[in-house]
This record gives sequence, C-alpha cells and structure tokens, in this order.
Amino acid sequence: MGRIRICSLGAIVLGVFMVIGALGESHTHDQDASDDEVIQKPVYKSPTVSGFAYLAEHFDDRERFRTAWVQSLAKKEEIDEDIAKYDGIWAVEEPTRSVQESDLGLVLKSKARHAAIASLLNKPFKFEDKPLVVQYEVNFQEGQECGGAYLKLLTQEESSLDLSKFHDKTPYTIMFGPDKCGTDHKLHFIFQHKNPVNGTIEEKHSKKPKERLEDYFKDKAPHLFTLIVKPDNSFQVKVDGKIVNDGSLLDDFTPPVNPPLEIEDPNDIQPEDWDDREKIPDPTAVKPEDWDEDAPAHIVDEDDVVPEDWLESEPPTIPNPDSVKPEDWDVEMDGEWEPPEIPNPKCEGVSGCGVYKQKMKKNPRYKGKWLPPLINNPNYKGKWKPRLIHNPEYFNDQQPFKMMPIGAVGFELWSMSPDILFDNIIITDDEDVAKQWADDTFEIRRRKIAQEGSGLWRQIANFTVENPWIWAVYIASVGLPLLLVIYCCCFASKDSSDDEKDPLAPNDETKYSTPGGSVNPEDEVPHLARPEEPLNDNTENEEETDEIIASEKDDEGGSGDGPRRRKPNKE
Ligand SMILES: *[C@@H]1O[C@H](CO)[C@@H](O)[C@H](O)[C@H]1NC(C)=O
Repeated sequence: MGRIRICSLGAIVLGVFMVIGALGESHTHDQDASDDEVIQKPVYKSPTVSGFAYLAEHFDDRERFRTAWVQSLAKKEEIDEDIAKYDGIWAVEEPTRSVQESDLGLVLKSKARHAAIASLLNKPFKFEDKPLVVQYEVNFQEGQECGGAYLKLLTQEESSLDLSKFHDKTPYTIMFGPDKCGTDHKLHFIFQHKNPVNGTIEEKHSKKPKERLEDYFKDKAPHLFTLIVKPDNSFQVKVDGKIVNDGSLLDDFTPPVNPPLEIEDPNDIQPEDWDDREKIPDPTAVKPEDWDEDAPAHIVDEDDVVPEDWLESEPPTIPNPDSVKPEDWDVEMDGEWEPPEIPNPKCEGVSGCGVYKQKMKKNPRYKGKWLPPLINNPNYKGKWKPRLIHNPEYFNDQQPFKMMPIGAVGFELWSMSPDILFDNIIITDDEDVAKQWADDTFEIRRRKIAQEGSGLWRQIANFTVENPWIWAVYIASVGLPLLLVIYCCCFASKDSSDDEKDPLAPNDETKYSTPGGSVNPEDEVPHLARPEEPLNDNTENEEETDEIIASEKDDEGGSGDGPRRRKPNKE
C-alpha cells in the first residue's frame, strides 16, 4: 500500500509540475510582449487627507510614527506581576503579503502578551453638532484564534492622556472594532454613558451586527471598519464600505441609556388572601355510591385452568444427582452439605411443574382514588404582580450623542494570533473625508489584491485558449493519479497487510516471475468482464482467503496471485 501511495502521489506531483512548467514557459514568452502589471509592485504614494481630520495615520513615515505614537509601559491592574506587563511587540512594516512597495502598517507582532499603543489627536473631538467618523483597516494576517483588534477612543481627561500609562482601565469614550474568541465573533461598538443624575459612567453595548463576521477574521485580507455616530443619535457600522449594523443610541444598546419610567414596587408584597388558583376541586361534587376506592387493579383470573400436561406433583427443580460433596467440606464450618439445584428433567417439554398459580387479569371494578372534578375558581384574582411605581432613578437623556470628549486613540489588546496589521486610521467629523481617505488607501489596495489573485487564473485561462494541447496535460495530471488511486483501492487493498510483497510495486520481482500472475492491468480486466463465471466457488473462496493469507507468510514466492485472482469474485 505504501508504495502505491507513493506512486500515485508521484503521478500527482508530476502532473502539477507539468502544468506549472508549461505555464512558466508561457509566462516568459508573454512577458517580453506585454503584461508586467502582476510582476512589478506599483509605485505607492502615501495618502493625504482631503479635509480636516483629528487624526489621520498611514504609518508610512517611521519618523512621524516614533514621535506621534507612544507605547504603553503600564502594568495591568489587579493581576499577577508576570503577566500584567504591557510588553507586546509593535512594529511598523509592510504587510506579509505586500502589494505596494513601502506601504507600511502598524503590526502587533507578539501573541499572548498585553500590548498597548496610543496617539494624541490633533485636537480633542467634542461631541457637538458634527458627526464622529472613525475608520481604520485591520488585516488578521495569521487569522485570529482569540483576541481583539478594536480601537479605543480615550476620554479627554487628565488620567487618560499620559499615554505611556495606557492600560485596560484607562477611561475611554468609545470602543470600536473586531474581537473574536473561539466561535464568538464580535464587532464592538461600546460607548460610555454618564448618568446625568449621579454622574456614574456605564458601558452601553450596541446590538449585534446582522451580518456574518467569520470571514473578516480568517480570510487574511485587509478589511475596513467604519463607525459613524451622528448628533441625531443615529449610528452606522460598516465593513469594507457596507453597512453591517445601524440604529439609534437610544434604542439599540444594552443596558438602555434611559432607565424605565416605572418599576415594580420592591416593597409591595402579595396579600395573604390573594387567591391565585385558577381552578379548584368542585366543592359540591360527591363520590358516587358504587365507587370502590379499594378495588385492586388486578385480580386472579378464575377462568384460567391448569394446562393438561402440567405436572403438579413434580418439583420444578431437583438436587443435582451428579454433584458430590467436596472433600474439604466442613459441616461445622459450612453447615450441612446440599447438592445444588438443577431444572427437573421431567419438566422438559411440558407446560410446567409444581403448584399451579392462576394468571392475573385486569379488574373491571377498579376505579382508583376518587377525585372531585376541577372547576373555575370563582375567587381567582389572577397572578399577583407588585404594583408599579415611579422609578426614583429615572432620567431622560435625549442626547446620548453628547459623550465625553475624545483626546487620544489607542489599541489596548491581547491576541492569541500574531501579526495583526492596522493601517490608515482616520478620525474626522466629515464622512466625505473618511470616504476619500478610504478610496486613496483601502480601495486601491483591495483592487491590487483582487488583480493579483485573478492574475494566475487569468494566465492559465489565456494559455489554455492559445494552447489547446494543454488539455492533455490537465487530463494526465488529474486523470492518471485518479485512475491509479481507483486501481489501488479496488485491487490492492487486500495486500496492504504486507508492504514487502506488494505485487504492484514496480521493482517487485514477483511481478515478472510469477507464472500466469494477474499483475498486469490487462490480466485483471477479463476477470471483471465475466463476473458470473466463478460464482460456483464462492463459498470455498471465503475459506480459502484465510488460508492463502496464512500461506503468504511462509511461502514467499507464489504468495501474491491466489487472492488477487479471486478478489473480483466478491463483487
Ligand atoms: C447612579 O444611578 C445608577 C442607576 O441609575 C445606579 O445604578 C448607581 O449605583 C448610582 N451611582 C451612585 C454613585 O449612586
């Protein structure tokens, strides 16, 4: 079997090489003439912002990056020293699958480490009369097992803005972006809402996106994440320009921004006399005279008679007459010896022996316990619920958009998969500016990747049209291995127990030396073609197979051909 696998694998590899070789040759021909778009990376130009942005970062300028971005040196609060450090590794580099020379991105290199990095905005974003637009690219270059790639928009306040101390508890206003663990795929939009009554800050989580999110984490392609929050409290979440979630800050978050106007009174208790039984036993019903609660469910069937052949005087078992008292039986210790009982041989072939017991039958008078029927309860008051009172914590904030101002953005992450690439972050208050920025960055990159992806297939298609003979290669490269695999599966599996004697292996002596051996495919075919013929020795065949396998072990020479000759019979 091993050799068969190797030989079919060899055929596949050979086929693939033939195709690649042929294409490679075609490519060198073509190239002189025209297409070089696929081969040369195009010249890349860093984008410029088409309007005002609070932050627009393309990461192409390493010098700028070093001054604008601050890596956190903090420690995570309240956990073990060793794992609390923010010591994850960030790099500015080209994507692993680079389509544009010197288009750099920010890459979280390390896995299973806390990593945080942040940058101040040009000026704080204040939630007034313009929308907030947040947009950035993420590429899970190694997929994602478990971990986030979300952006935190840090609140403009004293404790947030020393970026070297950025950690998980640093106050943020919005958290936005993808996050995954196992089969739980998320695209967060969380905002912090300040309670206007007592100033407490609470996280509000948006409802789930309606789209499937799996692919963004596993296709190893760049994806563009956009969040737009407007002064009218509406929001939109887009991926690659397509809306995947939208709604209102007032209606689509948990817990809701505004508490309910009324709540159940916690001091209200169910009155003692509250009757919440919907049905009660009919108090006027009486047990009928003839209702015998004591009548048993089953009674002896008096009509049942002893079968004629029943031997009432014979015991069903007798002491075994053949058993003898063991030598070492000690009457003092073990008691009087009694031979074990065995079924009475006289009872064999008759209905039974011993005292006859009549069968039981269902009692027609059986009624069981009498219960009065149920009727509607005239005093039923319904299920009890505490009364509603005005919610003392009630407030009505009709402008949750007016969030706390944003002073900086940052990533504060932990990931099980390395090499997450971030690029082209923009924070602006103008949707068009963000759109233009995406057109100049993400959209160009996306087109390049699509071109590169289709490039190879296009070449194969073109070459096939120009060189129809290549079909022979395709057929050979797919068909031959397939034939071999089928052949191996159908005819050689029985021999798999013994690699050494595999008769199909090219170097095996038996292939040539066995007289009349059916090792050549030409010899096999006739057996298949006349399946009726050997039917008469079918039974013998089953037995012989074992023999032959056994004989194979001691007799090397003639081993192979017996079982092979018979194999087609089984079908
Ligand atoms: C503020 O009010 C919320 C409910 O609206 C409550 O859960 C929270 O405990 C309050 N905070 C303080 C400090 O009283």
